[in-house]
Amino acid sequence: MLSEFLDTSDEWITTRTGIKTRHIITEERFEDLATEAAARAIESAGLCPDDIDYIICSNVSNLYVTPHLSSIIMGNLGMKGPLCPTMDVNVACLGFVQGLDLGDALLATGRAHNILLVAAEECTRFCDWTDRNCSVLFGDGAGAVVLTKGDNLIARKFTTTPMTDVIVYKNPMEATPFESGEGIDTHSPLVMKGREVFRMAVTSAARDIAQVTASAGLTLDDIDHFLLHQANLRINEAIRENLRQPEAKFPTNVQRFGNTSSASIPLLLDEGVHEKRIKRGDKILMSAFGAGFVSGIAILEY
Ligand code: COA
Repeated sequence: MLSEFLDTSDEWITTRTGIKTRHIITEERFEDLATEAAARAIESAGLCPDDIDYIICSNVSNLYVTPHLSSIIMGNLGMKGPLCPTMDVNVACLGFVQGLDLGDALLATGRAHNILLVAAEECTRFCDWTDRNCSVLFGDGAGAVVLTKGDNLIARKFTTTPMTDVIVYKNPMEATPFESGEGIDTHSPLVMKGREVFRMAVTSAARDIAQVTASAGLTLDDIDHFLLHQANLRINEAIRENLRQPEAKFPTNVQRFGNTSSASIPLLLDEGVHEKRIKRGDKILMSAFGAGFVSGIAILEY
């Protein structure tokens, strides 16, 4: 389908990225996708929406700049305010892992007890579909979890390297009557320096994963599952080879979903739990990277 309107091929996409299929929003409403993930997570936790006392939503790409998506999800869940705080975070593809850290801090201080963390992305609507460098890589998706005390992080590390030109997308803005309108730095479709991102992703993971594991008093052999951000199979292969850990510990789904930004790790987690590969007590290391350039790692005992 893509090669009908882009100068690309299944062979190029498969060998360079591992991606075979991706899901693209068409007639559906994005907020319904996010709400469905949230509702399923709440049900799996044996709770009802009114038990939730904090909602965090990780989101990069969304029609609404305001109101924020977590308030829309709250309403769609049938929760009638005034209720708990809602907050969106935008830390690119790292948003879910960063949201876990935020949730962990809220639980630790007793400020919240049942936190709904949703990661929902419609990346395909911010791609320039005439640009083969970006559009073949992305898919849409949503994942969610409920965090309660006991789901604490064992260790984490988050870093930002201010290289703001490696992945850029600018929203449309209006020109004010007080300027000529010429040269206004407004909307630009997604532009990405793919090779640079590839290099940064592998380097930051290689630098930090072993270090964070050691800081938790663990070895890499103690980690049961490495849930890596799903952007490119070759990136994940390079990280795995660097860590010299068995392939079975590195589940992948980028082949089926493409890069769903911050939704990719909760999608992996959900598949692992439902297929009973991930069990209570397992140690899970999550590692993600994205525009900024940001990189983050968190270890969780499930
Ligand atoms: N189909 C066919 N050819 C394509 C193409 C496509 N969809 N996209 C790019 N090409 C071409 C390029 O134009 C280039 O041609 P040239 O050699 O004539 O200049 C050639 O393929 C190689 O491009 P290059 O960028 O060197 O390929 P690559 O092996 O680095 O793979 C990415 C490109 C984007 C797949 C890879 O760099 C990547 O995955 N980077 C990380 C991106 C990412 O993760 N982004 C999201 C961050 S959350």
